[in-house]
Amino acid sequence: MKRLWITAAAIAAVVAVQLVSAGMHEEMPPADGERLWDYITEENPYKDWEPFPGYEEMYEGKSPHGDYLRLYANDIAVKAAKQGEPMPDRAILVKENYAEDRQTLMAVTPMYRIQGYNPQAGDWFWVKYGPDGKIAAEGKVEGCIKCHTVKKDQDYIFSQPR
Ligand code: HEC
Repeated sequence: MKRLWITAAAIAAVVAVQLVSAGMHEEMPPADGERLWDYITEENPYKDWEPFPGYEEMYEGKSPHGDYLRLYANDIAVKAAKQGEPMPDRAILVKENYAEDRQTLMAVTPMYRIQGYNPQAGDWFWVKYGPDGKIAAEGKVEGCIKCHTVKKDQDYIFSQPR
């Protein structure tokens, strides 16, 4: 009898975890710059995320991004990066772009993978925000895609986990 209860409790726990993770998934924003900003600053603040593996410190950027960069990734993205796997649906990379003084935040530029959103270009939703969240560009942004296409065989991502 006792064993039966333990089995039942174990099954209930597994179901609960699945329900919670399914729920979290549903709460993730659609391809909408404003909703994504609320998500990454309030609901699941990117500053609490882990850095992209190997990018724990601020690092020097190249044009057109800032002089100094920080790269954060949500747990879906971190997990895939650590396992050397392609970015799954709902992976988010958030890059902060700082000025030469390493203090002044100039822009926040995320890539957010939404399966089926833009299959021609890796299903990434691109946004460029000002430091206050003001949207400068969003969506299937041609400029972002054109340049990141160089890394097409790497999921459109320049920075590789290290
Ligand atoms: C002219 C080329 C170019 C354009 C345009 C460009 N990027 Fe990038 N991006 C890069 C390079 C190069 C890196 C690698 C980091 C670095 O050295 O700056 C990078 C890095 C990133 C990263 C970190 C993940 C990675 O690929 O390494 C994100 C996120 C990102 N860019 C988002 C954007 C968004 C959003 C836009 C459009 C608003 C954009 N980028 C436009 C060249 C570009």
